[in-house]
Amino acid sequence: MSPEDMEKIIRPDIKDMPPYIPIEPTDVLSRRIDMPEESVIKLDGNENPYGCSPKVKQALAGYSYYHLYPDPEQRELRKALEKYTGINVKNILAGSGSDELIDLVLRLFIQPGDKVVNCPPTFGMYPFSTDVCGGKVVSIPRKPDFSVDTTAAMKAIDTGAKVIFIASPNNPSGNITPEPDILELLKGRAAVVIDEAYYEFSGATVAPLVLKYPNLIVLRTFSKWAGLAGLRVGYGIFPHNLMDYLMKIKQPYNVNAAAQVAALESLRDLDYLRGTIKAIVDERERLMSKLSEMDWLKVYPSQANFILCRVLNGQARAIYEGLRQKGIFVRYFNTPELKDCLRISVGKPEHTDKLVATLNEMR
Ligand SMILES: Cc1ncc(COP(=O)(O)O)c(C=O)c1O
Repeated sequence: MSPEDMEKIIRPDIKDMPPYIPIEPTDVLSRRIDMPEESVIKLDGNENPYGCSPKVKQALAGYSYYHLYPDPEQRELRKALEKYTGINVKNILAGSGSDELIDLVLRLFIQPGDKVVNCPPTFGMYPFSTDVCGGKVVSIPRKPDFSVDTTAAMKAIDTGAKVIFIASPNNPSGNITPEPDILELLKGRAAVVIDEAYYEFSGATVAPLVLKYPNLIVLRTFSKWAGLAGLRVGYGIFPHNLMDYLMKIKQPYNVNAAAQVAALESLRDLDYLRGTIKAIVDERERLMSKLSEMDWLKVYPSQANFILCRVLNGQARAIYEGLRQKGIFVRYFNTPELKDCLRISVGKPEHTDKLVATLNEMR
């Protein structure tokens, strides 16, 4: 078979689909701008600037079973998550990041051509994973204040969409979707996936409603509040009758041993992690007030660990590039739903100070 013939048997829809654009790690960024890694200020990934709990590092160093496969049923971790969430272990499943669970939910419901509602601007993995599964993305843009257009979303559900994804707080806008809007969406005949990746920074959750609504799924992650983005571990809270199917279709050892050890140890060190969450939330408020003083920015309220701003004179790209040259990395958006916007992750106080000083110099 020739390489050309081989190409011919690749799914045509995979050839046509747009890629997901991930963020780069610090060492790659530092080489790009020719600056030492320690000088890079990374505010582009909504990662936790304080890192993981020190006890996680000790637990990982002391673990003796890396040569054995991890527990495919994640029993210890799920039991600890039961205590953390107050939801029965029978409704909880962990994944290799919530990214994996987004994919798993779609694999469970979506056959080629089935519809999935996406509410942009939002997290790019929803349309990406829908495309990979051969589903059809139905785009229902958010309103100018970034709230979900529930009327339009309900219409899409009523015309046969099987799944809707809502990030709450939403990435990149930072706003939560109020419970009454979620209850409205739950009236339809679609799986309503509420992605609470930033729950620990907002305190708002609909997790307890999973026990009442057979079409509600809540996803969470250890990447943000627990500082474990590099280890890839998240979990979902699912209606009971989906659990056997999800267990059946997931990769047997989907959460690796290190990730299970680290997540468990994080749940044992909540006092420490609550301290860093508080530091981030306090810093978000300080960053918010500093950015709001700049009359050339429109700053959107946030309940997450990042802040979205629109650059009012249309110079967002230049600001993004200028920050980058100084070693400060933020996320730049210029899409139909998000013109001239920057999303800035909340860092440590010294990161805020450097960012604000650099922004003021550039004006
Ligand atoms: C809304 C949302 N969901 C999920 C994720 C991915 O989380 P994980 O690292 O657990 O895959 C992100 C990451 O940025 C996110 O913003």
